[in-house]
Amino acid sequence: MQLKNSLVLLTAMTAGSAVGRMHGHERRHAHHQEHKRNVGDMVYAKIDGKIQSWVNEYSGQAATSAATTTAVSVPTVVVSSSASAAVSASATATASSSPTLSTGSCKNWHDTKENESDYLVDIFGSRTQSNMKEYIDYAGNVGSPYGSNIREVSESKACEYKHVVRIDGSEKEPWTVGFWNKMGPDGKLTGWYGNAVLTLQIHPGESKYVAFDDDTQGAWGIAKGNELPKDQYGGYACTWGEFDFSNTHNKGWSGWDVSAIQAQKANMEVQGMKICDHTGSKCSTISNFAKFMENAYSALEAGLDGIGGNSVAGPVRLQVTIDFD
Ligand SMILES: *[C@@H]1O[C@H](CO)[C@@H](O)[C@H](O)[C@H]1NC(C)=O
Repeated sequence: MQLKNSLVLLTAMTAGSAVGRMHGHERRHAHHQEHKRNVGDMVYAKIDGKIQSWVNEYSGQAATSAATTTAVSVPTVVVSSSASAAVSASATATASSSPTLSTGSCKNWHDTKENESDYLVDIFGSRTQSNMKEYIDYAGNVGSPYGSNIREVSESKACEYKHVVRIDGSEKEPWTVGFWNKMGPDGKLTGWYGNAVLTLQIHPGESKYVAFDDDTQGAWGIAKGNELPKDQYGGYACTWGEFDFSNTHNKGWSGWDVSAIQAQKANMEVQGMKICDHTGSKCSTISNFAKFMENAYSALEAGLDGIGGNSVAGPVRLQVTIDFD
């Protein structure tokens, strides 16, 4: 459920967090009448006692090698257009070119199928089974091999897939977009600790398309340049686009939102991002440096549920603007 007119200046929110909380309550009530959301779960984790201790535990490990470095290379998975191809990991995000993507015959990237069983899954690996746990503990499909549930596709083939995100590049300089699953390769909430499974570089004027298999939860991070910044513990510390596509445990609903929580917690730059459906509705927005935000997560809204856009079971087409001012 969308709540309009929630545009708030970050400075105003900082001065009176009650504003933020009130908005959160409205959203929560609106949302609970409809369904459960899971996108915000990652955010919820940061204030939940149990999850917080997990974060601390993990951080202790990572700190030994990460030290105070704030920008570390993003692990890259080289994606092939064939689901059976081997997935190889690379320690550095040097590849700025995409793998050869197969072409299709989509008239518009956002076209949809009349019969849902006609969507292709050829580029994805096998699905991993949902654990059907609640909220933050929910683990959906992370792909087998790990990460094979998130694949780049060509514009002309994008309409063949059920969940597609189009990312439009900055008008000024190349940016990096890294995608990860909520659950890391270890089955825990470690996806955002350097475990990106797809990393794209998007040049000015370029648009790239990414398809997601059913029951995929995670986020993408965005940053200017060739890599995603990390916090002192190795977590991606930039603006995130969080997603939850056709959640098996939520009657197939999908959801998305923009979150600056990790960037703000790390006292690092907040990148502007706007996510809307392809018609321009159900937007979640944060501008560069968080000068304003709407229907999105800042640190003040950590733990609140129901922010962002969502849709009933079925195809999802999202259009993303990065470097949003
Ligand atoms: C959709 O496609 C499936 C598989 O081809 C078929 O069994 C089903 O009848 C179709 N449904 C409709 C409404 O056409």
